[in-house]
Amino acid sequence: MCCSQDLINCESKESQTLKYKVKDQKRLNDLTRQFLESQSISTKPDYESLVDVLHFHEWRYYVKDDPLLADGEYDTLFNLLKSIEKENPNFIRVDSPTQRVGSDLSSDFPTVIHMSPMLSLPNSYNGDDLRDFDKQIKKLTAVEGDIEYVVEPKFDGGTVVLIYEDDTLIRGATRGNGTAGDEITHNIKTIKSIPLTAHFSDHGIMKAEVRGEAIIRKDRFDAMNAEREKKGEVLFANPRNTATGGLRTKNPSETAVRNIDAFIYQIAAAEGEGADQISNHAESIKILDSLGFKVPRNESKLCVNIDEVIEYCKTWEAKREAYPYEIDGMVVKVSSYLLQQKAGETSHHPRWAMAYKFKAKQATTTLEQVVYQVGKIGTITPVAKVRPVALAGVTVSSISLHNEDFINQKDLYLNDTILIERAGDVIPYVVKSFAELRKGHEKKINFPKTCPINSNQENPINLVRDENEAAWRCPTCVCGSQDLQRMIFFVSKDAMNIDGMGKSIVEKFHELGWLRDISDIYNLNYEKIAQLEGFGERSAEKLQKAIEKSKANPLHRLLFGLGIHHLGQRAAKIFSAEIKHARDLANWSIDQLQELKDIGPVLARNVVEWFTEAKNIELLDRLESGGVNLLQTESDMPKDFSDGPLAGKTILFTGTLKHMGRKEAQKIAEELGAKNISAVSKNLNILVVGEKAGSKLKKAEKIQTVEILTEEEFLKIRG
Ligand code: IVH
Repeated sequence: MCCSQDLINCESKESQTLKYKVKDQKRLNDLTRQFLESQSISTKPDYESLVDVLHFHEWRYYVKDDPLLADGEYDTLFNLLKSIEKENPNFIRVDSPTQRVGSDLSSDFPTVIHMSPMLSLPNSYNGDDLRDFDKQIKKLTAVEGDIEYVVEPKFDGGTVVLIYEDDTLIRGATRGNGTAGDEITHNIKTIKSIPLTAHFSDHGIMKAEVRGEAIIRKDRFDAMNAEREKKGEVLFANPRNTATGGLRTKNPSETAVRNIDAFIYQIAAAEGEGADQISNHAESIKILDSLGFKVPRNESKLCVNIDEVIEYCKTWEAKREAYPYEIDGMVVKVSSYLLQQKAGETSHHPRWAMAYKFKAKQATTTLEQVVYQVGKIGTITPVAKVRPVALAGVTVSSISLHNEDFINQKDLYLNDTILIERAGDVIPYVVKSFAELRKGHEKKINFPKTCPINSNQENPINLVRDENEAAWRCPTCVCGSQDLQRMIFFVSKDAMNIDGMGKSIVEKFHELGWLRDISDIYNLNYEKIAQLEGFGERSAEKLQKAIEKSKANPLHRLLFGLGIHHLGQRAAKIFSAEIKHARDLANWSIDQLQELKDIGPVLARNVVEWFTEAKNIELLDRLESGGVNLLQTESDMPKDFSDGPLAGKTILFTGTLKHMGRKEAQKIAEELGAKNISAVSKNLNILVVGEKAGSKLKKAEKIQTVEILTEEEFLKIRG
């Protein structure tokens, strides 16, 4: 039998019965890439092909539940179609995707007519689009001054349309085709944030239709999946599908266990003598809030003009990841009902509202090449060179593939079409490869077994892989790559923190032969630097100051900066608290080092090996004669947090923290007496869980002794 992953690859009997034959899928996928790349079409045959392409992707998405495109890419093609139809209305086919008002109607539920039809929102993508929208509103309403807008998140879940009559929830429905939806009252009633009664009558309203979005909190979704994994059940794909699927189950108790919330964002229709009393959207949200609905109260803003709207949209775009719910943009609404009425609507959209869509977080591209980089301890890191693609505001052309296991787990081949993602400030990563799109010219990625940089045919240097480590390493460095990486690491923020001396400067000085090892950093010729292109006297002086400053760094920074394998910041602090001078470590044996709390055998052996090598001791001497501090300083001395509230406990942070950075959190934990550790095991006492916590949380939940705290609960301990 053919699994869905292989649909395009194998021509089995089953695939013959599919709506799209294998070869058609390949052809349509090739066309997709062409349209995405050229983004310009003008001829009728091109138009026909584009419609076919969109139909195909709708089928993959809605019918097969196995999309081949990132959402943003579908939008790009859809917008391309809209623009060509605008220029050539005679092309428009009755089955064009633009002619369909999105519908989620199914025959499984009774169909009900909404009190007021629900149109869809037009999209905008940048500040200029929003300014055009504002100009259009002013024109339509004949207002010359500023317009007030309410801006609120565009929740990424499933629409719910609720009717309250005589203060009682009498019906719940999906959006359906906008005019009529599926009646899902029983399921809706399981959603705890939807009140079963609401005193609309206090406002003179006897019947009201309100709209909102059913949505699942990201952390609840993760916890739910962790639970399912524990029970060996199939995992849910994402919060949105889980919410929309939950609304439409035939069994309300299944809806109930999905932890669905509902944000209510609009009174769509109202009857009763009070119905006309509400004069604007901002007021309607306040009323809904007072009636007990979950509304976007803290998330929305009444903006006095379009500049404020744009600023607010951008602020939210930046904090999108930290928000507990999935949102894919903002919705900008003219607040005044009178002006809404004046602006009116088209057959598809209200003219008084606009969605501002955030930049796509995901995109597909091609894995063109894998290059290998050598790190400071000889670690070989594979890096994918991909077809450059715009992703959440930056162009991505290189992505780390981490190690050999990652390549195997993700089943990556050269020339594969891959899905990549970049969430917030997080560096891009490969989500998956589309095995079903392979055409036969893809090649297996063979991770090298000899150093790809140092080796030559006659003289191969075999890579080594330590037990329990994912990385392959080059054991000897003859090309200088490791020295270069060591220097880049030495000057970095966490190590010697030499301000202004970034990777590119170290690379340049290395290329010029000025830097061979880290001690050369303290023997630079600043006159020569000042003459370099792009430098000048002032920058040379600034660099000199930063380098001078680093000479007085505490010992633990230097120890960490030496780049000894496995010697992290914490171990560097433990050592510097024990010794008076860096060279003292040369007198410690493996056993003695291991007696120190938290120092394991691997690190102890690495340290002893490092300090046994004469060239390393000479390096320390050269650093010292260059003026670098090798002595224990005040800040290296041990601090006593042993009576803190978390004394004796081990702690680990996972997921995205909202209130502080990871490092800050670890520092707070230390000051409370806890010890930060890096993995979930039986030795872990506390796991602090931020947004999007993943495998660590799942693992911790399986260990009964681990106490799981939210970020807020952790902060409360500090008081
Ligand atoms: S207002 C005229 N506000 O976005 C339509 N919609 O096409 C009035 N959505 O699926 C919709 N958050 O459920 C509005 N704050 C918000 C929203 C929102 C999400 C969804 C809505 C529908 C789509 C609108």
